[in-house]
Amino acid sequence: MRVAVVGATGAVGTDLLRLLRLRSFPATEVVPFASERSAGRTIDGADVPVRVMADDTIDGFDIALFSAGGSTSRTWARRFVERGTTVVDNSSAWRMHDDVPLVVSEVNPDALDGHHGIIANPNCTTMVAMLPLKALHDVYGLREMVATSFQAAGGAGQKGIDELAAQVPVLSEDMEALRTDGASAMRRVEHSVHADTLAFNVVPMLGAIGEEGYTDEELKLRNESRKILDIPDLLVSPTCVRVPVMVGHAVAIRATFERTVDLDEANAALAAFPNLVVQDVPTPLEWAGRDETAVGRVRRDLADPERSLNLFVVGDNLLKGAALNTVQLAELLHQRGLVRATARA
Ligand code: A2P
Repeated sequence: MRVAVVGATGAVGTDLLRLLRLRSFPATEVVPFASERSAGRTIDGADVPVRVMADDTIDGFDIALFSAGGSTSRTWARRFVERGTTVVDNSSAWRMHDDVPLVVSEVNPDALDGHHGIIANPNCTTMVAMLPLKALHDVYGLREMVATSFQAAGGAGQKGIDELAAQVPVLSEDMEALRTDGASAMRRVEHSVHADTLAFNVVPMLGAIGEEGYTDEELKLRNESRKILDIPDLLVSPTCVRVPVMVGHAVAIRATFERTVDLDEANAALAAFPNLVVQDVPTPLEWAGRDETAVGRVRRDLADPERSLNLFVVGDNLLKGAALNTVQLAELLHQRGLVRATARA
């Protein structure tokens, strides 16, 4: 198959190229696309130098993996599809469209059947939460969740990582100020990617404020969870927080079920779920760079021990949260014969 990777120079794109090779994806050619800034660059894992998308450069691909932001996807995904290419898109542009499957490879792979050319990869925070929630939903019937995220700087791409990395040494120079005058310490560094200074801090604002004071990131967690788990009336109370971690999202979840929960049975269901590992104290740093999602701190809720559980989930936002799931979807499409025949011709 001829594969296009759009956004190939970014944090997720780099992982897409690496994973295609590492997992021996059956590609005859991998072509990287990025903005004009990167045109002509040679990058690891690609067979040709970086190209810029144009009507005459996007012909003849079987699959295109997109991770170049929503506006690039909105402009270019359909143009690939018109040429017979199947697109797996990592942006938020198409996720909630009725004719676009939103798929976590272990959770709802059958949603790929009958796709119309574009398949959406979920938001990185939602992705991580879906594995344990699906495992428990299958046993107890999920009805409601309160979810608080602890999201890594890398969720905002390479520029998010770079901004945090630049702040840390500057603020480290004056530890006393961090303790006695945090407000002036914060002003010693610039921020433009994250909503406020992230080093030695947490920032409870990701994205733009929308409905009822919730951010678009928080609403993604609600809307995408409903679609992936196929629970249209799932009640979700989300809070999304940026934390000074480079890579690895965590989510604290209080999940409420239709049926009475049993702690041993719940732990067994979590442990049996594919690519999910039960660990006492999962932390994002430990799981950065790993494919599996980790879940721990599983407790019956003190206010509702009958039907609610608390759990802490951790996963690499650039791997399972983005690039790995994208490549897993490409693999599933290939295995199931769902890559458009027109592209092959
Ligand atoms: P470039 O490196 O040339 O700017 P990240 O999420 O890490 O910020 O990466 C974003 C990715 O999307 C990069 O590969 C970036 O390329 C790419 N990109 C940004 N804007 C466009 C565009 N208009 N067309 C194609 N690729 C783009």
